[in-house]
Amino acid sequence: MSKLWGGRFAKKTDEIVQQFNDSLPFDQRLYGQDIAGSIAWARGLVGAGVLTDAEMQTLVEGLELVRDEFENGRFPFAEGDEDIHTAVERRLTELVGNVGGKLHTGRSRNDQVAADFRLWVMGAVRRIQIWVRDLQHAMIANAEANLHLPMPGYTHLQHAQPITWGHFMLSHFWPLQRDWERLEQIWEETAVCPLGSAALAGTAYPIDRQAIADELGFRAISQNSLDAVSDRDFAAGFLYTAVMISTHLGRLSEQLILFNSAEFGFIRIDDGFSTGSSLMPQKKNPDTLELTRGKSGRVLGNLMGLLTTMKGLPSTYDKDLQEDKEPLFDAFDTLSMTLPVMAGLLNTLTLRPERMQAQLEPTLLATDLADYLVKKNLPFRTAHHLVGEVVQTAENKNIPITALSLADFQAISPHFGDDVTAIFNFQASLASRATTGGTSPAALAAQVRVAKLRSEAG
Ligand code: ARG
Repeated sequence: MSKLWGGRFAKKTDEIVQQFNDSLPFDQRLYGQDIAGSIAWARGLVGAGVLTDAEMQTLVEGLELVRDEFENGRFPFAEGDEDIHTAVERRLTELVGNVGGKLHTGRSRNDQVAADFRLWVMGAVRRIQIWVRDLQHAMIANAEANLHLPMPGYTHLQHAQPITWGHFMLSHFWPLQRDWERLEQIWEETAVCPLGSAALAGTAYPIDRQAIADELGFRAISQNSLDAVSDRDFAAGFLYTAVMISTHLGRLSEQLILFNSAEFGFIRIDDGFSTGSSLMPQKKNPDTLELTRGKSGRVLGNLMGLLTTMKGLPSTYDKDLQEDKEPLFDAFDTLSMTLPVMAGLLNTLTLRPERMQAQLEPTLLATDLADYLVKKNLPFRTAHHLVGEVVQTAENKNIPITALSLADFQAISPHFGDDVTAIFNFQASLASRATTGGTSPAALAAQVRVAKLRSEAG
């Protein structure tokens, strides 16, 4: 099979160079976008006076046949098909004859691949947004079912202040909301059509670029042909967002792995979402969560790889850019598993309120105790110090702070009265964090309302 660019070559491409150069093994995934782009281009060529209506019709029908062949797994690959663009054009010409050779008039694989890739990213963004929404809705459902269930809150992984399960679960909703909005921005950035940029300098035919862009669902056309064939910022942006999503899932995974351990025992992962050990019969491992945590590394690697490829490239298209696609395909495939797996895991998760209850020890209320002294008009700094002494006294006596006598309290500060016992009330502590974003029942009910509203869009 002769090459599309074979005219100026006296010698056959070396076998190993052929293999090295070919991108078909991975870019055949773009066949749908490539064919859609070619159909729009063929229509554009009529307006430019290059094709007759009948020729265009022949090309469009031929391209649709090629699409059917791909869709039914019947596309006959041939030696010399170096990428999806050459494969489609070669096959089209076999099917429709010489007129197939007119399709590439005024365009280059440089603007073609940029357009195909952008169309793929636009579709991928929409798919990921759906998976993100499904996970967000699983989080809201899980949060609502246990909205006011008290549990210890942590900083530095140490007991800090009481919170509720609903508040904790929703703390993982908002990062995904930001990701969803980032995806929206990436779609906007990506939906700019480069077709008509040709190899680098623009096309020599009077093509209606806007009409082609409209037909393909782009929102705008590019303004500089040199930039248009080399710009992969949208691809890096897509990967950055994939990294953020993976990082968010990884952090939630780590938290749930801890909560699932015998030491915490706050949750039980459903049998359908855990796996066993080949040696230890008792084991039920949170592999799904560990894999999700682990895969954030590979997605980050994809971003690093692409950025490193892009860095320092001279103007305009360079073959280095052929390396742009696999990292995105891999990131997309990874998210196509991690997002639905996390949603399934949350939808089947069992909580163990008694285990959370057992961890609600009174030093979690030390801040509330300081606030009590503040209400007696002590400066917060002084109150903080005095409560520190209370905690130390209890520790020295090896008893909980709730077992200290009023005399013990008053030895530390005369501002402690017998009303101090009222402070050791978890519900009251939770209810006091009532500003927007706080853990109180009222604030939480409001948060759920806003979360539902924000996650409706799209
Ligand atoms: N397979 C190439 C890629 O993925 C298509 C563009 C080829 N352009 C070129 N001038 N060789 O980037």
